[in-house]
Amino acid sequence: MQTPSSGIQSTLQEHRKFPPRPEFSASAHISTVAQYEQMWNQAKDDPAGFWGEMANQLDWFKKWDKVLEGTMPETKWFVGGQLNASYNCLDRHLLTWRKNKAAIIWEGEPGDRRTLTYLELHREVCQFANCLKRLGVRKGDRVALYLPMIPELAIAMLACARIGAAHSIVFGGFSADAVADRSNDAQAKVIVTADGGWRRGKDVPLKKAVDESLKKSSTVEKVVVVRRTGWHVDMVPDRDYWWHDLMSSASADCDAEPVDSEHPLFILYTSGSTGKPKGVLHTTGGYLLGTTMTSRWVFDLKEEDTYWCTADIGWITGHSYIVYGPLSNGATTVMYEGAPNWPDEGRFWEIIERYRVNIFYTAPTAIRAFIKWGDDWPNKYDLSSLRLLGSVGEPINPEAWMWYHTVIGAERCPIVDTWWQTETGAIMISPLPGITETKPGSCTRPLPGVVPAIVTKEGAELPANSGGLLVMKQPWPSMLRTLYGDHERFKQTYFSTVEGCYFAGDGARTDEDGYIWVMGRVDDVLNVAGHRLSTMEIESALVSHSLVSEAAVVGFPHEIKGEGICCFVTLKTGDGNDSLEKELISHVRKHIGALATPDKIRFTAGLPKTRSGKIMRRLLRDIAAGREQTGDTTTLEDFTVLAKLRENDD
Ligand code: WT7
Repeated sequence: MQTPSSGIQSTLQEHRKFPPRPEFSASAHISTVAQYEQMWNQAKDDPAGFWGEMANQLDWFKKWDKVLEGTMPETKWFVGGQLNASYNCLDRHLLTWRKNKAAIIWEGEPGDRRTLTYLELHREVCQFANCLKRLGVRKGDRVALYLPMIPELAIAMLACARIGAAHSIVFGGFSADAVADRSNDAQAKVIVTADGGWRRGKDVPLKKAVDESLKKSSTVEKVVVVRRTGWHVDMVPDRDYWWHDLMSSASADCDAEPVDSEHPLFILYTSGSTGKPKGVLHTTGGYLLGTTMTSRWVFDLKEEDTYWCTADIGWITGHSYIVYGPLSNGATTVMYEGAPNWPDEGRFWEIIERYRVNIFYTAPTAIRAFIKWGDDWPNKYDLSSLRLLGSVGEPINPEAWMWYHTVIGAERCPIVDTWWQTETGAIMISPLPGITETKPGSCTRPLPGVVPAIVTKEGAELPANSGGLLVMKQPWPSMLRTLYGDHERFKQTYFSTVEGCYFAGDGARTDEDGYIWVMGRVDDVLNVAGHRLSTMEIESALVSHSLVSEAAVVGFPHEIKGEGICCFVTLKTGDGNDSLEKELISHVRKHIGALATPDKIRFTAGLPKTRSGKIMRRLLRDIAAGREQTGDTTTLEDFTVLAKLRENDD
């Protein structure tokens, strides 16, 4: 199972299989293997023909001249076509019976609730679009959104799309520094935020962080503040405006602006392996088509479904599968503001029972927490409305898969383990619930239009059960178009590893049935509780502390979070102690946010390095995980460093 050229080894052995149930297949959007194969082959051999046909599912103001132009990395989709994402998610449904259908069912953490029909959502989006215009936002501008999971976040996104401004959402768990970095990089003109948000009963003071961030940013002219918690915030005259004040005088008439298919829809920052976050840019036509079709194929969305994706909209999962994909399909999407264990560990199951949720999409890290909290919590609630379960964010371990299948799905619901990335925009590899025989831990097969391969660095395709690099050989409509402001880095990051292919860092293997098993990231990016974090960013946060000389951050297997964060720290002088450890932990939290809270800080006199000065993280990973060193240490510069680290192993 080992390939010397790729160096990725697979240790997972899993042979259980779960065929689709005939009752499910009978009414599924994709209901036979033959139908899938026909679609997949057509998309591979004639992408323009296939996607041109699919694109008729969207409403266009002007039809495209050409479906696909160029080759990777420079591809354009639906060239000459014009549309609007907000129009596709809202206006077109108003011409149908869906006008008064629930678009968003929202629940706040304290228990407050709100349902917005398509007509109501449309009205608020139009009004807020007019507010943005009044604040000087024009087509082509960027607007930063730093909000809790409240309906105003979806409204603001669709309002930006409506006038052709790109949104750049900053996850509410990030700190002031992160807001400043991201809004500076995107040159945002306006920030939309809230006084605060609720998380586990505590306040998240968002507006305060925005005020802090604005000390370091020069492009932001106006701030809009939603009143969510009612806490006191400082409002700066002529800069800060209350959402409700602006809305009270805003007209509900605002035509959706036709934009080119390749017009930017949003920027979303994601961690890279070198310091600066990458501004992944998605454009309108291709992204919307990808999310629309995959929502239908993978979640088998039906008119009568109540669909719930538990992700935060601050991540791509929320962009694609809370907002754009479901709304473009005219579905009912549930949105929940808070934590899964507030006020108790039954909260998610209570929500499923209350709204009779049919489709539930969550992350392995959440599933592992549910397992730890015990079966009594889900067993207290009626989950019989569920008909399909989804997983995303990291490889799901077979134990977690089996628990999800048995305890939540009552052995009745298919599980779709969906592999994709911020960069891919939409789901790429996933079971199709009506046809795929699933295997716990495998994301199975590529969707139509996705042509993956598992290769060596030289691009040679590997046989079954050999670990290698997961690449895409053909372009797809929802792929990122660039990294905002750094097209060179875009080409370098995704298209320079394997000639002619897209590569975004994952290792994988196929098995004897052609199923794909993703093995995790091959670079130094951590996946903590489903969040991709850059070790470099955490290291630079540590090093920004006056006592720290050097830091190396590695992941280690963590029961709940998937990966935990272990920091090896070298001090400028003296030894570390408990109080400094606490101080460094809060220092990282302040710089990056609570999601990057280190699990372990280990003080060390030196770090293992190669002669050229590169830190050998591989060795540190072994130490952090408490494993014996097995790999090659011949390039190590100073062996005593390693010996000392092992001695102090606690
Ligand atoms: C990375 C992308 C896609 C939305 C959430 C994360 C890992 C994601 C799976 C899966 C194995 C997965 C990969 C990928 N990943 N889904 N089903 N099985 N690994 O988006 O932050 O861009 O992270 O998450 O390593 O490259 P992201």
